[in-house]
Amino acid sequence: MVIVGASLDRVPFSGIIRIRDMMYSVPNPFRLDQGDVSFDVPATAKAAMTRAIEENQTHYLQTTGIPRLRNLIAARLRERNGIVEADPEHILVANGGIHALYCVCQAILEPGDEVIIPDPAWPPAAGNIVAAGGVPVGCPLHESIGWRYDFDELERLITPRTRVLYVNSPNNPTGGVLTRGDLERIAAIARAHDLWIIADEAYEDVVFDGEHVTMASLPGLYDRTISLHTFSKTYAMTGLRLGYVAIQNPVLRERAKKVLFYSTSNVASVVQYGGIGALEGSQACVDEFRQELRERRDLFYNAVAGASSGVFSGRPPAGAFYAFLRIDRRLADQLCPPSGEPSLSWRVAEYMIKSARIGCVPGVDFGANGEGYLRFCFARSRAELTGALESMKALLAGKPAS
Ligand SMILES: Cc1ncc(COP(=O)(O)O)c(C=O)c1O
Repeated sequence: MVIVGASLDRVPFSGIIRIRDMMYSVPNPFRLDQGDVSFDVPATAKAAMTRAIEENQTHYLQTTGIPRLRNLIAARLRERNGIVEADPEHILVANGGIHALYCVCQAILEPGDEVIIPDPAWPPAAGNIVAAGGVPVGCPLHESIGWRYDFDELERLITPRTRVLYVNSPNNPTGGVLTRGDLERIAAIARAHDLWIIADEAYEDVVFDGEHVTMASLPGLYDRTISLHTFSKTYAMTGLRLGYVAIQNPVLRERAKKVLFYSTSNVASVVQYGGIGALEGSQACVDEFRQELRERRDLFYNAVAGASSGVFSGRPPAGAFYAFLRIDRRLADQLCPPSGEPSLSWRVAEYMIKSARIGCVPGVDFGANGEGYLRFCFARSRAELTGALESMKALLAGKPAS
């Protein structure tokens, strides 16, 4: 059977999937490869889901989400994020941030449209753009300035085909947080070149140093900014799949609604009630999660340079929950000499997985500019982090220096 029309064949699968498959063959692994928190869902969300089942809230719903949930989300966007014009009508509830981004990319992009994304970036950003016929164009983030942009470099990447700036702060995988000044610069560029902005704020509640500024809260910017959020990280609801976008423009919103309808009809009713419970309940858990993540960050960073005998280095990130660590090439070459694998980060990731049972993701999977780095997630439990550090130490102690 000949398969024709293979445009989906151009869409890459993230290397994270290759790593996940590798991890299944590792006994007693340390899963620092996964971008998942070890916390439990807040009790208010659990109770709301249980109640929804008991009350048989199990039927078809409005495509864009339960009105009560959209009201709560709009209130949060106004009060917490500072988007004063946010209205429940603007909200589309999706199966997590990844689905929200899929809907937006399908709605906004025409074949050949270019989207400037950070390099490194969360791999589904590029994947979703390619799936919609668009072309992701990576703009380097620089470690020396806290994984932020050089804006002259960003502006030079703009062509007549550029349509969107995809911005992600705090950034996965680097943990870099853009400043208010950075966002103002991006806003000025978007206005000057008449571009849309997709502001992916998945880690909005995981900022340790500095502040999180919501892109669409900047004066006059909401009408060209699609604000994208998720319950995954803020409320530890990764497996429940709940996210949302706010789109003020009615034409774009109608298009995204079509994609939402044809891809899911409506997000699972019980999960939406869980979202209502999370938003209506106490928000203390959000601060508790952040505080615990800060301590895990410090635990990991205080030990990792020593445990790796200098193979890995980096400064603690300002946000998100990833350690994006530079690999010392000379030391790494002594540990796992260059082989058939041309990528340093893949070679060292495989070595760490097979020899120390530590899951991690090669930096190059996030973009060419991520080559030479590994991503470790420090949102895992303290026991898992400590176990991973001990395993690293047992493997590397004294080795690279010899
Ligand atoms: C930058 C970024 N955006 C969005 C998401 C979407 O998360 P979810 O689909 O679980 O809501 C993630 C998840 O890892 C992410 O890292």
